Amino acid sequence: MSNKFYITTPIYYVNASPHIGHSYTTIAADVLTRFKRRVLGKENVRFLTGTDEHGQKIQKAADAAKLSAQSFVDQTSQQFRDLWKSLDVSYDDFIRTTQPRHVKVVQKCLEIIFKKGDIYEGKYEGLYCTPCETFWLEAQAVGGLCPDCHRPVERIVETNYFFKLTKYQDWLLGYLRENPDFIKPGSRYEETLRFLELNKLNDLCISRPKERLSWGIPLPFAPEHVTYVWFDALVNYISAVGEFDARDNYVSKWWPAELHLMAKDILRQHTVYWPIMLHALNIELPKRVFAHGWWMLNEDKMSKSRGNVVNPLEMVEKYGLDAYRYFLLREVPFGLDGNFSEEGIIKRYNSDLANDLGNLVYRTLTMVEKYFDGNIPDLKLNGSTKSVAEILAKIEHLPVRVFSALDEQNFSLALESIWELIGMANKHVEETKPWNLAKENKQEDLKEFIRLLVDVIRAVADKLEIFIPQTAASIQEQFVGDKVKKGNPLFPRIETKKK
Ligand code: ME8
Ligand code: MG
Repeated sequence: MSNKFYITTPIYYVNASPHIGHSYTTIAADVLTRFKRRVLGKENVRFLTGTDEHGQKIQKAADAAKLSAQSFVDQTSQQFRDLWKSLDVSYDDFIRTTQPRHVKVVQKCLEIIFKKGDIYEGKYEGLYCTPCETFWLEAQAVGGLCPDCHRPVERIVETNYFFKLTKYQDWLLGYLRENPDFIKPGSRYEETLRFLELNKLNDLCISRPKERLSWGIPLPFAPEHVTYVWFDALVNYISAVGEFDARDNYVSKWWPAELHLMAKDILRQHTVYWPIMLHALNIELPKRVFAHGWWMLNEDKMSKSRGNVVNPLEMVEKYGLDAYRYFLLREVPFGLDGNFSEEGIIKRYNSDLANDLGNLVYRTLTMVEKYFDGNIPDLKLNGSTKSVAEILAKIEHLPVRVFSALDEQNFSLALESIWELIGMANKHVEETKPWNLAKENKQEDLKEFIRLLVDVIRAVADKLEIFIPQTAASIQEQFVGDKVKKGNPLFPRIETKKK
């Protein structure tokens, strides 16, 4: 097991503002980062995110906004950083592909691969989808439309440079067969394997003539061409954390990444192009690529090119940051698609956050005030009854259950195990009927009862810091030391109009 953890999100295109889909991956990475910081220490964890700023569609968006490409990308890249701040995303580094540190490493990679003979000059003729920055075969672009975004593809004929993917196809197949955990979830692993078994790869066109596109990184050996945006973008994962030495060996304290997170739209780039690029550069592969599902809006993928996006900040303003973070991670098992709806958020909010968590915290605070004048009973619990013993055992096992679920990127399972404990505690309140204990003046029983609830709440808040840090902090403040300090209810119920 490695004692460091380097995690990445995709670097997002800056042709438009961030939406819920971007926030999903980034919040997921934030949660895994917070988890690993606990286990490994803050100094051993690196969380990288950033923006992808070159390429034709960025150039087009800048033209449309009547701005220079540079000032356009400066503005939209800032929107991403502002959003991450509003969403409590605790990244360590933010890379922009226009930064000199990145440009330098991209050019070095090109130079090394060129010297090695794996890049050659050739004629390109084929179909291209600009919004997706992707080449398609005739067979794929049925009816002249991009199979991904369903908009018309363009026919392109030009001299370009090609990277010999074909040379490495067998190597990649062998690598994947030996490393079934390299791609998660398993369905995506199977998909990649099958693709490589059934298709012969084409070499990858990695350049664009400058007269067609100037917004990119010049090829060091052919400066009248710029680098294809995907070849440029993938390199961010290594350019952010290391450099090549004089012998062309890549040196980094952080590489290989433990985890690249993304959605399934860019699986192929990360499981075919990127491993082959790294292998050609004689660099180790990342440990794992996890491609999660899509947030859909009425059966269609939420995406800026389809124009059906929801602004995360709007949801946060309406429901609060932690309800938003909680909803994204709890609602859909990581890896599957999910339908986004405000009714869905409200339902989760009212049942899990207001009813289960909020209620447990609030009723416990109220009882500590009412029965013990705000003083948290000081005693060490032993499992005096079966249900007390069960709850104590559950508290004890909670870290292992949460952490092992997170080690498999299973956010919903981790949250479920926390909510199981909350549910047990609420059930215990209803079964114990503390008001009767008070009436019958059973002081010791009442003390034990309250203390158990406080222990549950502290254990829960401690784990929730990983997922919903503001709520965790607010709970911890209300139960700090030996006295409670009751604040406002955590999640006041959202009343929906009755039908
Ligand atoms: O592809 N559901 O950038 P991009 C879930 N620059 N996640 C979604 C989503 C949705 N509906 N929509 C977007 C690029 N995402 C390249 C990446 S990496 C070297 C270069 C998230 O702005 C998800 O993480 O199109 C997806 O993979 C990513 O945003 C695509 O972002
Ligand atoms: Mg996209």
